[in-house]
Amino acid sequence: MNLLDYPRWPLLARESILNVPIDIRSTRVNVEGKVIDYGSDIDSVVITGMGGSGVVGDIVNDLCWFWDCRVPIIVSKNMRLPRRLSRPLVLAISYSGNTVETIMSAEEALSRGYPVIGITTGGKLSAILSSKGVPVILIPKASAPRYGLPSLLYPTLIVLERFGVVSVTNELERGIVGMEKALRAVDEASKLAKELVNSIPVIWVPESRRGVGIRFKNDLNENAKYFSIVSVIPEGAHNDIAAITTSQAGLRHVVISGSNDFESKYLDAVVDVISSFGVKPLIVRLDGSTPLESEMYGVTFLGIATLALAHLLNVEPVSTLPINKLKEELDRRGLFTV
Ligand code: F6R
Repeated sequence: MNLLDYPRWPLLARESILNVPIDIRSTRVNVEGKVIDYGSDIDSVVITGMGGSGVVGDIVNDLCWFWDCRVPIIVSKNMRLPRRLSRPLVLAISYSGNTVETIMSAEEALSRGYPVIGITTGGKLSAILSSKGVPVILIPKASAPRYGLPSLLYPTLIVLERFGVVSVTNELERGIVGMEKALRAVDEASKLAKELVNSIPVIWVPESRRGVGIRFKNDLNENAKYFSIVSVIPEGAHNDIAAITTSQAGLRHVVISGSNDFESKYLDAVVDVISSFGVKPLIVRLDGSTPLESEMYGVTFLGIATLALAHLLNVEPVSTLPINKLKEELDRRGLFTV
């Protein structure tokens, strides 16, 4: 099986940290006559991006269930920014730099006078932001956006530290340990893949690991070209779980949790109830002694499992033709122009 960029992930994480300009907080830009001062205090962080780029927001959101994040993190996956923001920092993350939703959000943020930082390999986002003097963190290319995750996530964490939102210096290395552990667990990931052949996976995750669940679903969609469902606990215990009484063909239940997650006892109860209806879920434990370590172990391990699944199914993992086609179609219709 070809692991594509995964073996490079620890290196990508380490290298990408160096791409964040030291003096980012001394930036001042003038947009449409408004001065945006990056040294000013912020009261929220909006992370805007789609798919393999947008998942960075979900991961940061997970981490803030464990870390003492100083301001709320708002994950935005739309063409518009949420209304009623006061003093946000806006991180516009687009691997390609050509995703219309992210570019439109970044432009809206600037016209509303918010500090924006772009994280991208280049594209229109980089050109538009740079032309206005807005900071852009350039990251290296990978085989596709989702395979460049550490290059998108690690600079984000450094930026958050520079803005006093998180304190991550000791955590960054643990995250890399998590990726390395997962890279040593390829056989186990392949075993999980075998269990998922010819199924629709139902992924049960605690709220504090929503990002891991979403990322697993996205990787199943994009690598293995599989549909799957994510049920986030406790909410899913008030609706999804009701469907367990009918044995719909083809579903395969996967429960994901970290050993130190505060919801783990709740999740154990969910597993017992599901099992009492004759369903035997697969259990994936997120190995790791810190939140970032177990999070990175999870996204790496499950990502590799989806590559193994693609391999078993003889599916080409990298290309995502319908996504490209939709981007072209949106462009052709000129509904959302940048
Ligand atoms: C993942 C993937 C998509 C893109 C998404 C947004 O590998 O191809 O999920 O991440 O279409 O594009 P970017 O990341 O370029 O902004």
